[in-house]
Amino acid sequence: MIQLIRGFKDILQPEASLWQHIENEARRLFESHGYREIRLPILEKTELFARSIGETTDIVEKEMYTFADRSGDHLTLRPEATASVVRAYIQHKLSGTEPIRKLYTIGPMFRRERPQKGRYRQFYQIDAEVFGISSPYADAQMILMLAKLMERLGVTGISAHINSLGCPECRPLYRENLKAFIHQHTEELCEDCLRRKDKNPLRVLDCKNESCRKAMTEAPELLDQLCTACADHFALVRRELDRRNLDYKINKRLVRGLDYYTRTAFELQTDMLGAQSAVAGGGRYDGLVKTLGGPDIPAIGFAIGFDRLVEVITQAKPPETPAPSVFFIPLGESAMEKAFDFCLQLAEKSIEADTDYSGRSLKALMKRADRLAAPFVVIMGDSELQAGEVSLKNMATGEQRPVPLDSLVEILSLEISGQEAPESGTQDP
Ligand code: HAM
Repeated sequence: MIQLIRGFKDILQPEASLWQHIENEARRLFESHGYREIRLPILEKTELFARSIGETTDIVEKEMYTFADRSGDHLTLRPEATASVVRAYIQHKLSGTEPIRKLYTIGPMFRRERPQKGRYRQFYQIDAEVFGISSPYADAQMILMLAKLMERLGVTGISAHINSLGCPECRPLYRENLKAFIHQHTEELCEDCLRRKDKNPLRVLDCKNESCRKAMTEAPELLDQLCTACADHFALVRRELDRRNLDYKINKRLVRGLDYYTRTAFELQTDMLGAQSAVAGGGRYDGLVKTLGGPDIPAIGFAIGFDRLVEVITQAKPPETPAPSVFFIPLGESAMEKAFDFCLQLAEKSIEADTDYSGRSLKALMKRADRLAAPFVVIMGDSELQAGEVSLKNMATGEQRPVPLDSLVEILSLEISGQEAPESGTQDP
């Protein structure tokens, strides 16, 4: 039997319904904040990611699915969405008429990491990006929107971490200080860090290796060396989060694993997923549009790790298989045709109904109704039908009563929506 690829996974029921629910909530929330969806290709030129995420990041150095296609072009399965969104923003001149754009996109990303709980080689992100607003209000809005989504989804046990990564004014000096510190600790560093320490010393702060972490405990903090403009920006982000009573932590060690960030960086972290603590991450990337050949336009964004979010929610409450609202049990040929019609009619009213065409006994079909967990069952015998009636059973209470055929849809609609149904047979003319 051919099995799926290591690090890839199938999303089956009932999880897939939970994915759908989360996606719907995210769309609803984002759209109500003025974000609009765009859909982008999964495959891009390798150079796009190398130039944006950074040549000396783990993603670009070791994790991309890159190949030469038949014409020799170097292509990569996108490891994240931001680079593609920026590419599309520049390519379609979205800055031209209205530089302020609030966009979101949802889809699969690919990183060839070592698979473990919460870490996959194909995973999904819910990604949001804002272009054209340099004000810290945009930063606060995004962080608050992320927190609101967690609240709406009933997610607990997650905390918001924020930091500032400075700008081209203040970061170079900090880099030099950090480099000097690193040079005093080279013996404790892993191979990756030794290789990257000069080109990209901030990566050493992000290293997961225990010995590197220990070596860096006393390292200088960028947050303490921000220029006035960055410090003011960060203060305003904090003020707005405070004003909305958001519970967050300042995490001076939060550097993020991608190189394009400037100023505000943030993550939602949890301890429910073992080593994989980040459920979402993002930050400002004011220089990236220009770096990739576009105008000098500031931007900020985040991506939620969809798989991780699902796991956090599932741990708190396993998803239930969605049930049809009503199950028809037809006992006989003409009953089957009626049941078929009723299912179509109820679907028109957005009520999920199901039936069974096997011709099996009442007992067998009641068992199936139980398995499906339908709250209502309609039993239709041919002789009952001739008398213009069916039996409606409330599976929670066990109560069963006759209902006139011509008011069945109305009575079911009321029962299912939880309203008082009229007494059988007392329908208004
Ligand atoms: P990132 O931190 O690399 O940021 O990824 C965002 C989220 O994707 C992570 O917090 C995590 O939940 C999820 N994630 C990453 N890798 C995996 C994996 N192998 N398996 C499962 N989940 C994973 C970005 O990708 C940036 N593009 C975010 C951003 C948008 N920054 C600005 N705009």
